[in-house]
Amino acid sequence: MSLLDEARAVREAAYAPYSKFKVGAAVRGASGRIYRGCNVENVAYPEGTCAEAGAIAAMVAAGETELIEVAVIADAPAPVPPCGGCRQKLAEFGRGDTPVLLATVSGTSLASTIAELLPGRFEVAHMSGSSG
Ligand code: THU
Repeated sequence: MSLLDEARAVREAAYAPYSKFKVGAAVRGASGRIYRGCNVENVAYPEGTCAEAGAIAAMVAAGETELIEVAVIADAPAPVPPCGGCRQKLAEFGRGDTPVLLATVSGTSLASTIAELLPGRFEVAHMSGSSG
């Protein structure tokens, strides 16, 4: 199954009773293994988590800290861009040129990269020289 098909499949499991907007994400770790995540909402709205965060958590729980490919899918008129927080989360474990495929259930897609999604990312180097 392709990375996008994995994201499409896990999307079905999304828990989104409030927004009714189901999202699926799949990331490929450096090992080649695929990790999947869906959005999980909460009645206390800010406690909900995004599909990308779930996929990243599954990857890290399995012992991997490097992702080499990402796919995200939702049922929307146009490919849904990851939220700002998820862009930073993806940047933590990927490289600037890591491909991110944004797709819709109806079949349109947009190929992007982590650097395109998050130019000027905050990195460890930005903290060097700080005296605390
Ligand atoms: N959502 C994601 O899971 N990923 C995205 O990239 C965009 C938004 C979720 C969060 C919330 O459960 C719902 O979509 C509506 O914002």
